[in-house]
Amino acid sequence: MAVIEINHPLIQHKLTLLRNKNTDTKSFRENLNEISKLMTYEVTKNLVLDEIEVETPLMKTTGYTLGTNIAVVPILRAGLGMVDGIVSLIPTAKIGHIGVYRDEETLQPVYYYCKLPVDVQNKQVILVDPMLATGGSAIYAIDYLKNAGVKNIVFMCLVAAPEGIAKVLQTHPDVAIYTAKIDQGLDSNGYIYPGLGDCGDRIFGTK
Ligand code: PRP
Ligand code: URA
Repeated sequence: MAVIEINHPLIQHKLTLLRNKNTDTKSFRENLNEISKLMTYEVTKNLVLDEIEVETPLMKTTGYTLGTNIAVVPILRAGLGMVDGIVSLIPTAKIGHIGVYRDEETLQPVYYYCKLPVDVQNKQVILVDPMLATGGSAIYAIDYLKNAGVKNIVFMCLVAAPEGIAKVLQTHPDVAIYTAKIDQGLDSNGYIYPGLGDCGDRIFGTK
């Protein structure tokens, strides 16, 4: 599969607001959700449609309805910041949660929670997390979903480091990565640079 950078002017404008260290929690949340909504347009471009008949005030004609069942699965916590934007466009989507945090010392993913929608195996899963850094958390979540029987997964993030992209594509070549920006790399603490800092802390106002 591939990595797709969604280089839309509105997304890049809003991402710049998120990068700004002076952007407050409220604006950060709002802009993250707006970017997620805009990205959803691109991420869902290849969804399968079913043909249906629709009756307009004038006549019957052919219409279309989404033929794919969709599940949105945020990686907790920061992935939660993208859910509302996506679901505003796909209100029928089911929502699962995977709790994985990154150990600050080892940078290894630490699992703590999971709840997936009924019949997730037969759904198109949009796995979401704003930050793809070393790739450890995303790979853990994809492994988990595949072990649960999920066959169709796309990963949607806001900012991705080349190191994390390479690792995810190597481990899970069938998973497409959609990102608003491929950044320069990782610093010695495993943070994406230029990045936007700790995304979870900026969404929730924690430290
Ligand atoms: C952040 C981010 C990803 C992970 C990325 O979560 O939201 O889940 O780090 O890093 P990786 O690619 O090196 O695994 P964090 O561990 O800070 O947890 P949080 O969302 O609860 O703040
Ligand atoms: N997690 C974050 O929130 N930010 C980074 O830059 C890397 C991991």
